[in-house]
Amino acid sequence: MGNQKSQVLSESDSNLISIVASQAASVYEREKAILNSTRLLTMGNMISEISHDLKKPLTNIKGSLQILKQKSSPSNQAQKILDSTEEEIFRLTELVKELVNFSNPHKYQPEKKSIVPILEKALGLVEAEAATGKIVIKKDLAAYLPAVFVNEKEILEALLNLIFNAIESMPEGGELKVQAQQTYLTQKERDFIQITIADQGVGIPAENLHKIFERYFTTKEGGTGLGLAVVDRIIKAHNGFISVESKPQVGTSFEIYLPI
Ligand SMILES: Nc1ncnc2c1ncn2[C@@H]1O[C@H](COP(=O)(O)OP(=O)(O)O)[C@@H](O)[C@H]1O
Ligand SMILES: [Mg+2]
Repeated sequence: MGNQKSQVLSESDSNLISIVASQAASVYEREKAILNSTRLLTMGNMISEISHDLKKPLTNIKGSLQILKQKSSPSNQAQKILDSTEEEIFRLTELVKELVNFSNPHKYQPEKKSIVPILEKALGLVEAEAATGKIVIKKDLAAYLPAVFVNEKEILEALLNLIFNAIESMPEGGELKVQAQQTYLTQKERDFIQITIADQGVGIPAENLHKIFERYFTTKEGGTGLGLAVVDRIIKAHNGFISVESKPQVGTSFEIYLPI
């Protein structure tokens, strides 16, 4: 009898376990899907940044072509080649315009929201990756924070970029501190939400500190150098600002300030 009971119990146990396992798998799949779509969004922003940069060389080439055309005689064979080159450049310019429109990062409207769930979401998305890299996440989020006008997708993207950089800076593992609080800045005479993302990673040499927000600045093999440029643009679009402090071999701390 006792045996039978334990048999029944273990059967329902195993059912329960398989239900939990499939639930966990679907949560994992969902997180992965969100992470992928965030990466897609980052790519969208990167495309937007790059297509802006493509405009300038195109304008320069157009200018040079005009000069060449003026210098060659109309009957010249060269003139025909220059004409078709000009047509191709026109096509390229139109393509770049389309790319800029397509990847327009300002498509979404901001909403008044608390920053805390967005931070929780960002941390949830990197949890597994951090654990694999022996990174301990220390979370310190104020119990009450006033809502601010944010574009959730963009803020999530900015936070993830900073968190990914922090994780990448600690190949041997370490502590990732994520803090959110309300702060009054005397020099700005107003209240801000202050978000800190601090690592114990390789740090940034003083001579690089002023370059890290520049597009294409990277010290990583295979890096794009676009992450922080995107972060900077997103935070400025929210009327906020970002500051950084770093000590080589000690760590780096980024502070985001969003006006309340
Ligand atoms: N948390 C950090 N710790 C150390 N260096 C960093 C950190 N965040 C950014 N950097 C430096 O700034 C550069 C630019 O960062 P980013 O714009 O995100 O581009 P990427 O990550 O593709 O290199 C990095 O290559 C790195 O040198
Ligand atoms: Mg990066």
